[in-house]
Amino acid sequence: MTYVAPNSVQARDIASIVHPQTNLARHLEEGPMVIGRGQGCYVYDDNGTEYLDTAAGLWCASLGYASERLARVAYDQMRKLGYYHLYRGTGHEPSVDLAEKLLAIAPPAHGGTMSKVLFQCSGSEANDTAIKLVWYYHAAIGKPQKRKIIGRIMGYHGSTTASISASGKPDMHADFGLPLPGFLHTDYPHYYRNHLDGESEEQYATRLAERFEQLILREGPDTVAAFIAEPVMGAGGGLTPPRTYWEKMQAVIRKYDMLFIADEVICGFGRTGNMWGSETYDLKPDMISCAKALSAGMQPISATLINQRVFGAMLDESRKLGNFAHGFTYAGHPVTTAVAMETLRIYDEMDMLGHVRQIGPYMQQKLGRLIDHPLVGEVRGVGLMCGIELVADKDTRRQYDPARKVGATVDVHARTHGLITRFVGDRIAFSPPLIITEAEIDEAVARITRALDETWRELSAG
Ligand SMILES: Cc1ncc(COP(=O)(O)O)c(C=O)c1O
Repeated sequence: MTYVAPNSVQARDIASIVHPQTNLARHLEEGPMVIGRGQGCYVYDDNGTEYLDTAAGLWCASLGYASERLARVAYDQMRKLGYYHLYRGTGHEPSVDLAEKLLAIAPPAHGGTMSKVLFQCSGSEANDTAIKLVWYYHAAIGKPQKRKIIGRIMGYHGSTTASISASGKPDMHADFGLPLPGFLHTDYPHYYRNHLDGESEEQYATRLAERFEQLILREGPDTVAAFIAEPVMGAGGGLTPPRTYWEKMQAVIRKYDMLFIADEVICGFGRTGNMWGSETYDLKPDMISCAKALSAGMQPISATLINQRVFGAMLDESRKLGNFAHGFTYAGHPVTTAVAMETLRIYDEMDMLGHVRQIGPYMQQKLGRLIDHPLVGEVRGVGLMCGIELVADKDTRRQYDPARKVGATVDVHARTHGLITRFVGDRIAFSPPLIITEAEIDEAVARITRALDETWRELSAG
């Protein structure tokens, strides 16, 4: 049991807070790692120990951990108009500025361009909104029985009731009685782990698209409403799709007249080397959900972008019902929208896309060398996201027994070397702040290598 000083932040935390994604019993004994401040890609705990954060917090701190400029915008906005809502046709300029900007930079949508924006405060709410709009759309066009939502095993879309139902995360469904009925999950595209002997990436992608179609046919196409997916799976461990996967999956979506929600909560705003993952993989979604780097993680804001097809149906419904009966108190909050708008201005000024396109290949190349490490079976990524798969046997791709918690062990060692990573089972995901430099990448690679070496030594010692 860790010693926790009375009245310390740790002790007060233990006494008062329920932490997300945390073993609550262990937390009572060990308490939190308290982060006191941050600068650039580094955070510092309450003892002043420095950590290089290659997870950008939760994939969101795109500009690092402190910003005088964004603070100034929030301050000025709070002094001018610190709150107003968008209900019953009320508006304010910061929300309009941001909506216009998002529509201007949105990728091509199914049937043309994105048409309108709805604001929320989190990625979960953006996806919940999109799912509700799927149901609303099909009701509006006279197909109210078309309600089933298909997500993917290992996909993650949030923690609210609908978004976690769409997620393929059994660990997050357990004992919550979830997923809700009508949420289904198809295969996730991880070629390295799941291809058959002799199967090419293209053949693997064909098999996945065929299995997706079979699921739709089994369920009844008249009941299947939408497919939701991340362009690159983030919480799945940074899984990039195999060649031709998206082309084949989108053909199935369109064949059965489903809507397509691209969850860009992680991929949006440069992570994959383009503004959107949808551009990197040539997706034509009907809706996009985005959050995280939208405000560089500095304000809780998300947006759902919808195409004209969806908006047209909403218009018909609201004419019929007299109201579009959906919304959140803080949707389009003036402070969050002002900070997000300034974030997007900063991206333009610093040529953030140019930076990611230059530094991304550098990171992929440096991390790629870890393939020679005895613990590493695969290193694969795009832009500034990369997944490292840890294996017990490189030839057979055999994994360690999950009980050995190899990924978690690497993470513990990494922390002792001043590195914060994100592990998903035995996969380590890298998604550093978008401002990361070559020198910081070198440092991160040196630190993760030490952590891998130590883990390897322990495993070899039995
Ligand atoms: C792809 C994706 N969608 C949705 C979410 C949920 O976002 P939030 O935690 O802001 O609700 C996440 C969070 O990590 C995510 O990675």
